[in-house]
Amino acid sequence: MSTDNLVALSADPTAVHELAPYKTIEADELNARIEAVRKQLGESLLILGHHYQQDEVIAHADLRGDSYKLSQTAADSEACKTIVFCGVHFMAETADILANRPEKLAERNGRRIDVILPDMAAGCSMADMAAIAQVEAAWEDMSEVIDTEKVIPVTYINSAASLKAFCGRHGGIVCTSSNAKAVIEWAFERGERVFFFPDQHLGRNTALGMGIDEPQMPVWDPYALELGGNTEQAIESSRVILWKGHCSVHQMFRAEHVHAFRKQHPGIKILVHPECPREVNDLADVSGSTGKIIQTVQSSEPGTKWAIGTELHLVNRLKAEHPEQEVHFLSPVVCMCATMYRIDLPHLCWSLENLRDGAIVNKIEVDDETTKWSLIALERMLAVK
Ligand code: 13P
Ligand code: SF4
Repeated sequence: MSTDNLVALSADPTAVHELAPYKTIEADELNARIEAVRKQLGESLLILGHHYQQDEVIAHADLRGDSYKLSQTAADSEACKTIVFCGVHFMAETADILANRPEKLAERNGRRIDVILPDMAAGCSMADMAAIAQVEAAWEDMSEVIDTEKVIPVTYINSAASLKAFCGRHGGIVCTSSNAKAVIEWAFERGERVFFFPDQHLGRNTALGMGIDEPQMPVWDPYALELGGNTEQAIESSRVILWKGHCSVHQMFRAEHVHAFRKQHPGIKILVHPECPREVNDLADVSGSTGKIIQTVQSSEPGTKWAIGTELHLVNRLKAEHPEQEVHFLSPVVCMCATMYRIDLPHLCWSLENLRDGAIVNKIEVDDETTKWSLIALERMLAVK
């Protein structure tokens, strides 16, 4: 995407304050102005922040969490009128769907909770790797070889609402990195195979942990001419069909990084996110969602040594918050989520001051039909224990 396009995505014609001047304001002033709006709007404003968000932004969040916790919070929101989501686009979409589901709207006499994403360019490169037309084409294609009535589609929450709706329509479900195993078990109670998208690594690492062998997990390449680049036999003998998608941040962690840390720091423990490739996940001592990574460090003894394979801002925060432990970043190169990083103080202050002055900029609103079907898949996820 060109810089021009990104700038266009950052603007909003409904704004009463233009974005550009905010970019030249010093951080101290932005912080003070953000806090002033928070104070003025009180409980009617809920700022949610994902753990990968930069420190100066997360400092203003009422609540921080991993994708699962943030979805649950949005689903349970009562008091607020507006959620400002310091995360990425799919998270804000999910918040809109859950916060405005029919029973919640009825409880509030039809009043919607508006969801704002401070920068519309805060997308997710993994979510962009699976478009609804590609998923529908793949479904159609595989139905030539296997009975798709017995295939349960599972979408990682890191996907567009249209893919969640696809899962809702086809007896499927959504998962996050913290409940992927329970969700895949749920799917196998209802079907013979799972079609998992868009993250091949989370799907593969989870299924391997459930005893499914890699040869039973063909990878579906949406750009291949036939059957996602697989033979009929590979699809017929599959148990989990994995979409060829990945997280550009987590795919940078390598097995050699694990070996180097173990050699240089005897006794070090390797803690990774399951979006990492199989060879890294297999070598790790602990693998889990960002929530689990934080909890693991929090509950460890002083002096514990960690090399952590997940987004840089979270690892640096853990390093600062746990000086009693030794926290290292697993990769020698910078692995940060560039799209999450687009949410910065100027965008946050701009969206909040517009809100205060009556303009809802960068509103995320999922259409009714997509909401209806994606809600089915999301509610199934929230019901899985
Ligand atoms: P979790 O929040 O589920 O750990 O996922 C990490 C991530 O990549 C979010 O985009
Ligand atoms: Fe998407 Fe990866 Fe960024 Fe998460 S860390 S939002 S999966 S690109």
